[in-house]
Amino acid sequence: MNIEDQEKQPSSPPSHHRYQRHQNLYKRWVALAHKTLAKPRAYIILLILSFVVGYISHSQPLISQSAKDLIEHNSFSTRCGDPVPSSNIRQTIIDRVFSGTSPWKGFPPSHATSLLLKEWTKGWGSNAAVFEHLIRQVQPKTIIEVGTFLGASATHMASLTQKMGLDTQILCIDDFRGWPGYYDEEKSLKMVNGDSLLLYQFMQNVVNANATESIMFLPFSTGTALGGLCEWGVYGDLVEVDAAHDFHSAWTDINNAYKVLRPGGVLFGHDYAWVGVREAVHLFARLNGFRVRIDGEHWIFY
Ligand SMILES: C[S@@+](CC[C@H](N)C(=O)[O-])C[C@H]1O[C@@H](n2cnc3c(N)ncnc32)[C@H](O)[C@@H]1O
Repeated sequence: MNIEDQEKQPSSPPSHHRYQRHQNLYKRWVALAHKTLAKPRAYIILLILSFVVGYISHSQPLISQSAKDLIEHNSFSTRCGDPVPSSNIRQTIIDRVFSGTSPWKGFPPSHATSLLLKEWTKGWGSNAAVFEHLIRQVQPKTIIEVGTFLGASATHMASLTQKMGLDTQILCIDDFRGWPGYYDEEKSLKMVNGDSLLLYQFMQNVVNANATESIMFLPFSTGTALGGLCEWGVYGDLVEVDAAHDFHSAWTDINNAYKVLRPGGVLFGHDYAWVGVREAVHLFARLNGFRVRIDGEHWIFY
């Protein structure tokens, strides 16, 4: 066929020709399918194919879902409420946590007086030099302590701020439950229906130290209490982490504590010698661009 002939050809066949061609094609496909399906081998291939397709489509979303979960589990939101002025922080805690009545009012209640010890101020590195170093350096208006136990370090900080003439509020976070098994170590405790009265003994120690004007507390888990402070816009100029020392607890506490650190403040913590604490401290420092300084048994971000 020469070029002229080609040009005379219609660009596509008429529609009844196209219909006829589709019909033929369809018949050929049906015949092929009949022939193929008549063989048992075809069923085996179909079975394998459907297994492979099913496996791929099922396993892929699971892999990407677990990666997504990992990211979500390891990220902490960083936005907290607008900052409450330092001078309003004590009243904010009294209002939000104690329905407007100071917990020091009328303490100790008569039913607890005979159960409390006059002298019991156990602590660990609670009078360490780091407290004086950092209080001198930062001159904090608000200190947040995550892990207080009987208040040894809190009352020590209160006496330092008083001596330095600072008007500082110290917010102590603790569930005042200690840890499983600690009751065995502390034979001096009077257990009342399963309650070791740790909260009341802490309060008694603060009264003994004449520090009720500068110490306020949040008797909850560290996560709950730090979440509350974050939501209410209560920030600390100095924040100390000294609660549980396994990696996951330390990691969560450090992340939550950082959220309520006032810009320019210092975050530090106790028990650097514990592996879980050390790992959490260095992971956090690496991810957030901090360096770690050691002062006695304490770590400090700077
Ligand atoms: C090592 S002691 C704190 C000592 C205190 N800083 C001192 O130097 O005197 C740890 C405290 O953290 C508290 N704690 C541990 N895990 C906690 C959690 N998840 N929520 C609240 N308190 C917790 C315990 O009840 C305990 O009183």
